[in-house]
Amino acid sequence: MSPQKQHAEQCPEPLAYPFWTTEGLGLHPDYRELRDKPLARVRLPYGEDAWLVTGHEDVRAVLSDARFSLSEAVRRDHPRISPMPRVGGGLIAIDAPDHTRMRSLLSKEFTARRIEHLRDRVRENADELLDRMVETGPPADLVEDFAFPLPMTLICELVGVPYEDHHHVRAWADTVCAGNAAPEVIQEKAGAFFERMNGWVAARREEPADDLLTVLIRACDQDGTLSERELSELLNEVLIGGFVTTTNQIANFFSLLLLRPDGDQDLLARLRAEPGLVPKAVEELLRYVPLLNGLILPRYALEDIELGGVLIRAGEAVVVSQAAANRDPGVFPDPDQLVLDRSGAAHVSFGYGTHYCLGAHLARLELQVALERVATRMPGLRLGVPVEKLRWRSKEFFSGLRELPVAW
Ligand code: HEM
Repeated sequence: MSPQKQHAEQCPEPLAYPFWTTEGLGLHPDYRELRDKPLARVRLPYGEDAWLVTGHEDVRAVLSDARFSLSEAVRRDHPRISPMPRVGGGLIAIDAPDHTRMRSLLSKEFTARRIEHLRDRVRENADELLDRMVETGPPADLVEDFAFPLPMTLICELVGVPYEDHHHVRAWADTVCAGNAAPEVIQEKAGAFFERMNGWVAARREEPADDLLTVLIRACDQDGTLSERELSELLNEVLIGGFVTTTNQIANFFSLLLLRPDGDQDLLARLRAEPGLVPKAVEELLRYVPLLNGLILPRYALEDIELGGVLIRAGEAVVVSQAAANRDPGVFPDPDQLVLDRSGAAHVSFGYGTHYCLGAHLARLELQVALERVATRMPGLRLGVPVEKLRWRSKEFFSGLRELPVAW
């Protein structure tokens, strides 16, 4: 390692991070300042200082290098936006070999082929929700009436949680994602949620079915490849991950399409006229929306590692911004333009490497069906309130809308 590499002590005062965007889905301008700097020192509201990585290539390098550890982050006072360190465990909090063992139990349930079989079922669900909206008539809230129930119904079905119980999942997810809940509140809600989960597990032990609960219970009881605690952690991760991100993205996508950032072009009309464009449009919208506020769980360097001319010392934390990487001008020409038929490099919105999103195929399917069905079924869809009246969630884990009033 060459001694002249820049390291933490040579850096100026850390920047306050995240760069919160209060409204809309623009990339915070402070990221642009960092475009020429491979890494910056940052200080989050809680936990240790970290290196922030924003370039597309560097982000992929961090996410695919096993020397950057996730389980170490759980042991440390990791940089975060919430007073309480991360709760819940799951795949995203562990390294190989445990990660490999646990992920292999689930990955065969989420392959592209398996998920593609669900397309008709998801279309049916989407059409039922849209029928209900049409029947009731405008205005409607696209979040409550469509973006939330579509993925929630599906993930409850796949996991084997009775849909009548979905509000327990939602209440727990709301607490976790708000980011500012007091530790006592989180503890209390976690207790209630995991108790409820024990009920779902017990019921499925009595009566196995064709669902994820049964797959995981079998791994626990028959094969011994999963502990009871790991079973709860995986269920928690899949249930929360299985709807929160997709719900936010469906609403975010429609807000962008309805606001027509591409001049006067009616983007929904274009998707209606060119349904073959939908998969590409979904990828471009995934790239464009800064969903995660740069806050996937930080990694910790297990040894000294050089990245972009900077020496990251063993034991230092690294946070990556997928949002910034997705707007890297060296990789995406005109990165701040939404170009529905963009081709070229892949975004990193589902992560990269070993922890690449387990539900990526499922999320893509839901997002594609959502765009296709709404474009087809709701011609003339428009915002139901002036843009300034849209209520964006601020300082939470995910960028998104509290509601999306629409008319047609
Ligand atoms: C638009 C929707 C979604 C987005 C943007 C998204 C994003 C991500 C990202 C960025 C990661 C990697 C985090 C990291 O490396 O630290 C991840 C992991 C994960 N996601 Fe998703 N996700 C989405 C939908 C889903 C769905 C529908 C599921 C349901 C199964 C899911 C389950 C998971 C799980 C279990 C992991 C952990 C994988 C591992 O660590 O091996 N996600 N997701």
